[in-house]
Amino acid sequence: MNRVARFITMEGIEGVGKTTQIGFIGQLLAARNISHCVTREPGGTPLAEKIRSLALVADAETLPPMAELLLMFAARSVHLHNVIEPALKVGRWVLCDRFTDATYAYQGAGRGLAPESIEKLEQMVQATRRPDLTLLLDAPVEIALERARVRRAEQERDRFEREQYEFFKRVRSLYLARAAAEPQRIRVVDANAPATTVRMQIQEILELSSWMY
Ligand code: TMP
Repeated sequence: MNRVARFITMEGIEGVGKTTQIGFIGQLLAARNISHCVTREPGGTPLAEKIRSLALVADAETLPPMAELLLMFAARSVHLHNVIEPALKVGRWVLCDRFTDATYAYQGAGRGLAPESIEKLEQMVQATRRPDLTLLLDAPVEIALERARVRRAEQERDRFEREQYEFFKRVRSLYLARAAAEPQRIRVVDANAPATTVRMQIQEILELSSWMY
């Protein structure tokens, strides 16, 4: 059967369970013999993973928000060129843990950079490439952060995990605003529900898309 390869992204603040659920989508696709790759941003290639370290590892020297934004798009350019576009071209679906919605949420709402600057880079780096579907795992900030913080001791936290409650509140609000503005592409999943319910919501969204048949 000749299915069109889809580009699916997973978004949400830290602690909502993105990585687990992306693994679950991978299982759903594998059960239907749909060739796919699972990847993440920033990162997804050896070079882009190096850029990820530059952006995430806490360092004594300040990383200005604009430099952080440029690192995200530098990593994205490498990732698109070396992984995402080649996979889609040969018909492999791409499941990506975060993409440009995260840039609007973290560098835009979180760090306060103008969305217009992000839009310009989006056009330059991605041309017309956008996700076909984005699953936004949503949970109240206090609950998600508590889960994320139990996972990692304070001294092991990256530059984002060290941010405060207010930062993640802005990030979450922006994600929800983007979902409200683009309800066809960005589907909100209640990540505060029991794990089986979260999986059911995701399965339903994918099955309703009828892409898998
Ligand atoms: P994660 O792999 O645990 O989700 O961590 C990646 C971190 O990078 C997360 O805190 C969000 C951040 N990030 C941005 O700030 N902007 C971006 O464009 C992307 C893709 C991630």
